[in-house]
This record gives sequence, C-alpha cells and structure tokens, in this order.
Amino acid sequence: MAKYFITTPIYYVNARPHVGHMYTAVAADVMARHYRNQGSEVLLSTGVDENSQKNVEAAEKAGIPIQKYVDQMAQVWKESFDGIQITYDTFIRTTSKEHETAVHAMVDAMQARGDIYLGDYQGYYCVGCEEFIAEKDLSEGKCTIHKTEPKVIQEKNYFFKLTKYRDALLAWYKNSPDAVRPESARNKMLSYITDEMQDISISRQAGKWGIRFPQDDSHAVYVWFDALINYLTVTGYPSQGYEKMWPADLHLIGKDIIKFHCAIWPAMLMSAELPLPNTIFAHGFFTINGEKISKSLGDAIDPRDLLKDYPLDAIRYYLLREIPFGNDGDFSVVRLKERFNSELANGIGNLVSRTLTLVEKNCPNIAFVKGQSLDVSSHIEHLAFDKALTDIWHEIARLDGVIDEKKPWELAKAGKSDELETVLQSVLAGIANISHELEALLPETAESIQGLLSASPIKKPAEPLFARKD
Ligand code: MSP
Repeated sequence: MAKYFITTPIYYVNARPHVGHMYTAVAADVMARHYRNQGSEVLLSTGVDENSQKNVEAAEKAGIPIQKYVDQMAQVWKESFDGIQITYDTFIRTTSKEHETAVHAMVDAMQARGDIYLGDYQGYYCVGCEEFIAEKDLSEGKCTIHKTEPKVIQEKNYFFKLTKYRDALLAWYKNSPDAVRPESARNKMLSYITDEMQDISISRQAGKWGIRFPQDDSHAVYVWFDALINYLTVTGYPSQGYEKMWPADLHLIGKDIIKFHCAIWPAMLMSAELPLPNTIFAHGFFTINGEKISKSLGDAIDPRDLLKDYPLDAIRYYLLREIPFGNDGDFSVVRLKERFNSELANGIGNLVSRTLTLVEKNCPNIAFVKGQSLDVSSHIEHLAFDKALTDIWHEIARLDGVIDEKKPWELAKAGKSDELETVLQSVLAGIANISHELEALLPETAESIQGLLSASPIKKPAEPLFARKD
C-alpha cells in the first residue's frame, strides 16, 4: 500500500488562528483526502509550536503562567482545525515528551557527525520573527516585518555547521528539480545557499522556556531548530518504525519560512543521515489591501466569523479558487460573496436543483452510471487547486448547456420519454462525476450531492445546496 505523508507548519500560539493559517490547513486537507480516496495510507500532521519566546510574551501579557497559556491555546488551535474539519491524523505539541525525545536524538546524531560546536554570538534578534536579523536587513533600526526594534543578544551559543552542507544542498537541488516549489522559492533558495548561508546558532543561553540542550541544560534549543524536528516526531522517530512514513512526501509551508524548510531542514537531515523530503511547496500570502494578514499586525480575519455567514465549503471554495496556489492575493469578503452567489448558488446549486426537479417530475426511478468525462486528480496532485475547480465548473456549465439545448420539459410535453430519459441520464452521470471529483475539495458538497443521487426515488433537494445571499 502506498503511503503519503503530508505536513503543515506548526503554528505559534501567541494568538488565535486567522484565515491565512486556515489556508495551508485546507490545502493540506485536500491533499490528504485525495490520497486517502486513492487508497494510500495517509499521515496528515499539523500542530502547534509552543517553545517560542513569542508565546512567553503573549502569556505574560495575558497574565497567565506560560505552561497554562500554551495548554489553553493548543486547545484553541485544535478546536479551530476541528471546526473547519481538517482531517489531521496527528496534532503535535512541541512541549510533549515525545517531541523532546526526538529533538534530543537529532542533536545527538548531529553531534556524533561533528556538526555542532560552541561559539560566541552577537547579533540582532527579532522575537516576532524568532530569528537573528542581519544589520543590513533592518530599516531605520527596525525589523521590516514587525516594525519593532530587535533585541541585541550577545552570548555563547551552540552552532550547527550549516556551511558544511552547501555543496550537498546544491547537488540535491540539481538532482531533484521538484524538491522545492514553486520556481520562485527554488530560485531564491539557490541564491541564498550559494551566496548567503552561514552556520546558524541552535541554542539560547538566556531562555528559561524551551527544550533543554542535551548535555548542557544551561541552554535551550533554538525554537526553529526544535520546531522543524516536529515532522520527524510525528513519525515516531527515533523509535523503530518511523521509516514507514519518513520521509515526508510533502511539506506545505508559507513563503516566509522557506529558508528554514528548504535550506536548514534538509541540511539537518543530511547531518543526521536521514532521507530528505520529496517536495517542499511554498504557497503565497492572503493579504488585505495588499498587506499580509498577520496576527502581530492585528488585522486578522477570524475564521469563526466567516463560518457564521458561510458554509465551510464556500470558504474552502473561495480559498482554493481565488488565487493560484503559490501566488499572493487579497482576501475579499466582497469577492467571496460574488463567487458564492454566481458559482455556488447559481452554478452547482442550480444545476443540481434543476436536474433533480426534472427527474423527480418525469422519471424518479431512472438508472444511470457515473460519467468519466472529467478527472481533476492530476491538477490536485500538482497543487493546482484553482485549475481543478475551474475544470469542474466548466463541466457544470457544459451540463447546464445540455439542459438548455435539449429542453427536457419540452420532450416531456411531447411525450418523448425515451429521449427525455437519455438526456437526464447523461446529465445525472455528469453530476455524479462532478460530485466524485469534488470529494477532496468540497467534501460536504460532494456528500450532499451523492446522498441526493443515491435516493430512490430521486427527489429534488429539500433546500438549496447553497442559498443565495443578498
Ligand atoms: N512556527 C512557525 C512555523 C514552524 S514549522 C516547523 C511559524 N508559525 S506561524 O504561526 O507564524 O505561521 C505558520 C504558517 O502560516 C506559515 O507557513 C505562514 O506562512 C502561514 N501564514 C501566516 N499568515 C499567512 C497569510 N496571511 N497568508 C497565508 N499564509 C500565512 O511560522
């Protein structure tokens, strides 16, 4: 049996999820459902990144002890993902014992290769980014993303000899053209690896919060170093059997975290002599008026509010259809409503309703088989969700065209019942085909349509699949 292991990033819990976070999770969920339907053994992992200094600051601000704060927030994130029916198989928390074990095993393996050394660090650290920033990348002394002044940190840190893996990384890029996608991310990383990459500090002396560094508990493991290892933890690493799922088939990430995933992470795996992931795909950002939706900028859209107004599949449809996966685009409630009315209520909703009304009236016991004219698997497998949906909506338009042209109501009036049945059979076959192709993309809609089609006798829907909004 084929396996398919797909991951989302793990999320900082310093605020509630917004629609930008939901985006990766929905895309990952589509892939997981798709491969499950194909018969693969799927592991979809998501979870939370708890050892971050940002979380400590958020807990302080809320006046709650840090452990209690991350416990509460982990629950909030888990419930949010449950609320949008993300079919994750594991939800990892990086304060868990299993994760600490995996991190220690990884550091030990890298140390055994001679890839970790103690050095002095002095530099600017942005807590918002959880990253050191080079002086040249500051704007008027501030982080360009968080618009805050970084901390100046000077301390002894453990370092990872990242530069030792420069050639090996470049060779990996050359030999695996699909490893880092899309092309823009791949090109950026090739230039980073070639020109900029330096050894990185992987411990913090000051931090009280976080996983202790093996054999030196005066240091905490740097949060990014620990976070990346979550992908191994969920496979059971270092216990035997983790090889069943490792390496990941697909790491889905946002384009802001490519350096960690496409340079540092593969080098860590090389150092620990573990296989590299098959593909790392970086998607774009949802923006509001061109600005990235972010919790620290405080303009987040709360998925809970959207779900009050729209069914889940409408939001999935909008997220997957509005912008090609990999590009940036504005999240617009106006566009969501437009698409909802024209493509869901009038598009698929109307096609199903008019067809089943005709069937109920004329031939409710009609027999038909699912059509084969449409197959969007290849688009899904290439993460081209917008293309998959576009193809499905062309098929919807084609079937509407068949009804408009053949006018089944006139055939009924003229008593041409054989011809009438043939027309309705072909439209039903098309709708069954559509519902099948929608299973991974819009699972609730697929299920509703399949329920309607399998009823005997067939009846028109008691209520519209998507009720128009004014
Ligand atoms: N904790 C790290 C990831 C560690 S993975 C080993 C982190 N967390 S995050 O909560 O800040 O972001 C998680 C993901 O959400 C990132 O992939 C980021 O790109 C994505 N997004 C955050 N805002 C987004 C948008 N506005 N639009 C699309 N994706 C966005 O980074």
